[in-house]
Amino acid sequence: MPAELACFEQRCHARFPITEVIYNCPSCGGLLEAVYPAPEQSAAELKGLWRNRRTSNAPLEQSGVWRYREFLPFLTDYTQVVTLREGNTPLLDAPRAAWYGGLDRLAFKHQGFNPTGSFKDNGMTCGVAQALRLGMSRVACVSTGNTSASMAAYASAAGLQPLIFLPHGNISFGKLAQALEYGARTLQVDANFDQILALVRQLADRLGIYLLNSINPFRIEGQKTIMLELMDQREWQVPDWVVLPGGNLGNTSAFGKAFREMKEWGLIDRLPRLAVIQAAGAAPFYDLMRSQDHSRLIPVEHPQTLATAIKIGDPVSWPKALYEVTASGGVVETVTEQEIADAKAVIGQCGIGCEPASAATLAGIRKLVASGDMASSADVVAVLTGNTLKDSDYSYQYHTGVLKTANGTQIAPNLGNKPVLVPYDLSRIATFLGT
Ligand code: F0G
Repeated sequence: MPAELACFEQRCHARFPITEVIYNCPSCGGLLEAVYPAPEQSAAELKGLWRNRRTSNAPLEQSGVWRYREFLPFLTDYTQVVTLREGNTPLLDAPRAAWYGGLDRLAFKHQGFNPTGSFKDNGMTCGVAQALRLGMSRVACVSTGNTSASMAAYASAAGLQPLIFLPHGNISFGKLAQALEYGARTLQVDANFDQILALVRQLADRLGIYLLNSINPFRIEGQKTIMLELMDQREWQVPDWVVLPGGNLGNTSAFGKAFREMKEWGLIDRLPRLAVIQAAGAAPFYDLMRSQDHSRLIPVEHPQTLATAIKIGDPVSWPKALYEVTASGGVVETVTEQEIADAKAVIGQCGIGCEPASAATLAGIRKLVASGDMASSADVVAVLTGNTLKDSDYSYQYHTGVLKTANGTQIAPNLGNKPVLVPYDLSRIATFLGT
């Protein structure tokens, strides 16, 4: 049995060739996922193979995605793959952040160390590989910024034309600048992320452009390797919790699938619990988990958060995310703007730093430990999804005490670190420094 696309809906489970250009099930409209036969090698053989490849200088083996290609075998030919050496991100111990969160220990898997500064690169190298295999010439995405930066880089590197749609005024300049620098045709639209995605899906069908949002199942395949690499780094010891921010819920879907498959293939013996953290002003998945009716998600019409990466009211991957969080015995939590901002400053003080959406993880941990849902002795990994330079305006405004929400609420600089203007005068500076 070759790799196939399968409908994610339990009642349908229709199967399609892996090369069909579809994003939803043509029979029932459900989400699609790539499915594979079990690998030929044993778990021990795979672990050994993946570890050995780290010493190779071959581009494919240097990629933290393609090194694990037996775990995402949707291609039959790897000659066209474009890698920017994505993945290979560090797992960093952060005692100060652990203390802030109320935990004995905490490690961050920092996806901000990727070539374009976010976890999107893990998925994008796969999405672009599939676009090349299908003979596409143009690729498109709607983005809160990171997907577009990543798609622009990978598409340009592969000789494809990147077409980007952005919610005007709602992405950081750092991310917008990346898209421009990487040569993407960039359209800013006066609508929110969810509205633009609905439009671009129709446009992609009409113009034969390949869509690279996380509804694309090959993006999800690439993002699975974030968890595979994590387990490899931890010598295959499963943590109690994996904590991540939730926006369009592609990562939640990818991480859940990764752990399920790792267990099926004998690479691990149990699943960690997933904790998905949303910004309180953009938390439709949190609302869904709390409601009695899990059959449909009620979109948040006007999502609000300064963590623009997760400013999404109608996440497309919610059925997958619901399944994965439930299967892992996980939870969904919300955090306020102030909580995100302070947690981000703490991650900065660890010498690590991240963008606002990523800091929702630590804010969420603090809340889950305080409520007793997460034991302080738990073995926890939080995924920092984006680099601190992605949104330097936010950081500067927080530290100088001028950060405000869209409705004008002031964010207190509880851990602010304002720069100080001093005269060009040795003794006055010395006095100021308290010598
Ligand atoms: N963190 C960062 C830094 C992101 O850029 C995103 C999503 C998320 C978290 C949420 O991940 O959608 O998989 O739940 N950014 C998308 C974009 C939507 O367009 O760049 P998710």
